[in-house]
Amino acid sequence: MSGDRELDVVVFGATGFVGRLVAGYLAGHAPGGVRVGLAGRSQQRLADVRAGLGAAASAWPLLAADSADPPSLAALARAARVVVSTVGPYRAQGLALVQACATAGTDYADLTGEVLFIRDSIDHCHDLAARSGARIVHGCGFDSVPSDLGVLLLHLAARADDAGDLQDTVLVVTALRGGISGGTLASLMGQQDEVRVSAVRRQMVADPYALSPHRAAEPDLGDERDLDWVRYDGGLGMWLGPFAMAGVNTRVVRRSNALQGWAYGRRFRYREVAGFGAGPAAPLLAAMTGAGLKATLAGLEFGPSRALLGRLLPAPGQGPGEKTRRTGYFRIQVHTRTSAGVRYLAAVEAQGDPGYAATSVMLGEAALCLALDRDQLPGRAGVLTPATAMGAALADRLRAAGHTLATRQVTQ
Ligand SMILES: NC(=O)c1ccc[n+]([C@@H]2O[C@H](COP(=O)([O-])OP(=O)(O)OC[C@H]3O[C@@H](n4cnc5c(N)ncnc54)[C@H](OP(=O)(O)O)[C@@H]3O)[C@@H](O)[C@H]2O)c1
Repeated sequence: MSGDRELDVVVFGATGFVGRLVAGYLAGHAPGGVRVGLAGRSQQRLADVRAGLGAAASAWPLLAADSADPPSLAALARAARVVVSTVGPYRAQGLALVQACATAGTDYADLTGEVLFIRDSIDHCHDLAARSGARIVHGCGFDSVPSDLGVLLLHLAARADDAGDLQDTVLVVTALRGGISGGTLASLMGQQDEVRVSAVRRQMVADPYALSPHRAAEPDLGDERDLDWVRYDGGLGMWLGPFAMAGVNTRVVRRSNALQGWAYGRRFRYREVAGFGAGPAAPLLAAMTGAGLKATLAGLEFGPSRALLGRLLPAPGQGPGEKTRRTGYFRIQVHTRTSAGVRYLAAVEAQGDPGYAATSVMLGEAALCLALDRDQLPGRAGVLTPATAMGAALADRLRAAGHTLATRQVTQ
């Protein structure tokens, strides 16, 4: 490890709900000798968090930084090899830190699911980071690691078999249980507010290639809108409904394809859906889940219903309790058919609430991957994706941490 920085990894936002979980994961899993620091705007709150992390963290340095104070962010970026940020909503709080890391040549990872923020980061920081050598990696949690690595692994399997390019590819969430935090809700509502008042931003969010590095060079593959209601899919043999995170994950996966010179294929069509099986209750369950999702999103759109929901839902700093985090889980299948007609299936699964327990493993391992596995990472810099920044090295780490990431050819 290079000694040119005081620290290997800093967690910015360590006093927040998910920041505490990520700090806890690193306290339990960072190898001895890895120099970790905690950053935030209150030294006292950081000291309180550190006190709860046990002996491994007792000497971790505390760094004062505020996202509204660019000099403090520049100092933070210069202090570490890797900064992970859980300070959200990112659209409001995040860009100045990305700029600081891109300038300092510091690797960066976060948990954003905000397409507009990632687009702004690309537009303002990609070239800067490419010049300084920084890997800026958004979406290192449940959005969008399972999607991005699942598709990458399918591509690697097809390439190893010389089975052609990926074509129709569908991610199906077959099981999911977990909670939500106040910070996630605030981020969702922030993007809703921005889209409501700006037609340009509305169009951007709706564009399947919103995160493309070369929008004009993307292929025209017809209608690539996200599924917005229930339907039966004969090919998959199951009822499908909308998946809440498709709007960000699909854009991240398409960016991964483009950043690799469209290595997945120029006819790579990608969708994400929730799967409800083929049983007699499946269409009703799919319709009820789809209606529930629409109603929640509509309720969060406008003042009066937002205020009402605000009394029921967690506030910033709050999130799912220990039992929900421990008993949650997700199971995802990614189906693809290649240009040679070969079918593959990827399974991506983990025990633990997807957005919090499993996400803290994903972001913690991403931080360690960027800090410790540099010689195994793709030789890229700029505003990247989990697959293009860390690829198989992150998949290996997540498997070692107990997550399932597996592919197989489907013969029938
Ligand atoms: N992609 C995923 O799978 C996933 C999963 C979970 C969460 N997330 C995202 O992660 C983000 C955090 O969520 P959360 O529930 O942990 O939120 P949270 O509990 O509200 O935490 C927010 C953190 O930001 C800090 N902060 C706020 N303003 C700041 C400023 N001006 N300067 C420095 N720090 C500041 C807060 O510090 P103070 O203690 O000083 O207030 C706190 O540490 C959200 O954007 C959420 O959407 C994504």
